[in-house]
Amino acid sequence: MEIIICPDAERVGEVAAAVVARVAVAVGPSVVLGVATGSSPLALYENLAKRVAAGTLDLSDAQAFALDEYVGLPAGHPESYAEVIRRTVTEPLKLDPARVHVPDGRSEGLSGAGQRYEDAIAAAGGVDVQILGVGANGHIGFNEPGSSLASRTRVKTLSQRTRDDNARFFDSVDQVPTHCITQGIGTILAARHLVLVATGAAKADAVVGLVEGPVTSMCPASALQLHRFATVVCDEPAAAKLALADYYRQCFDEQLDWQKLDV
Ligand code: F6R
Repeated sequence: MEIIICPDAERVGEVAAAVVARVAVAVGPSVVLGVATGSSPLALYENLAKRVAAGTLDLSDAQAFALDEYVGLPAGHPESYAEVIRRTVTEPLKLDPARVHVPDGRSEGLSGAGQRYEDAIAAAGGVDVQILGVGANGHIGFNEPGSSLASRTRVKTLSQRTRDDNARFFDSVDQVPTHCITQGIGTILAARHLVLVATGAAKADAVVGLVEGPVTSMCPASALQLHRFATVVCDEPAAAKLALADYYRQCFDEQLDWQKLDV
């Protein structure tokens, strides 16, 4: 796992975008992106949007697959992840809306929705680069602690902690849905590159768990330790509990020329 510690959240966005852009350029126009919602990747998306506007990155033929969706929100609800992805990813990155996929959280047909999403990812040839945030409880996607490390896209019950954390997007916690449909940890691990961003002191426990803790379903993000190409980009407060922080800084400072990012 590659760990990059940045001075602040803005730099996290710039560096993580450089990692994503490097994969996208290497793969070519048909790159398949995996995209997360939440606050963590917003600076990353803004930086990618600047690259698209400047003409150094063309995503018009790219496909994108969102990690997760709430169950039961009406179509067009501003906090549905379909809408969040449209506002924060599809429009700023100039993606073709027909090539952007979000799990189907409508109540009808829900039992088959996970497999249909897995099939769509497979039909696209798999995800080339998956962007991730991490929950304060160590979740990735909506895979709460206790989720199988081999899980695939399916319906899950949100933990009270996650509903409380996400209440800031709704008028009250009672309006936060109780269920979601999320890519599984096995689905996420099947992406060819993973880029996880984490900022702020509230993520320090999750970051130390995922980078230096045991691989355990109690910290779903620790599954990234099993991936060949996983990059974690975090700011100083999120990195505060890492025992090997100095070594990670040394690795970044001593990168060989061909390893250096175009930040
Ligand atoms: C979002 C997602 C979640 C978030 C996580 C962190 O699609 O899957 O795992 O990445 O809850 O959320 P923020 O970034 O808002 O702290």
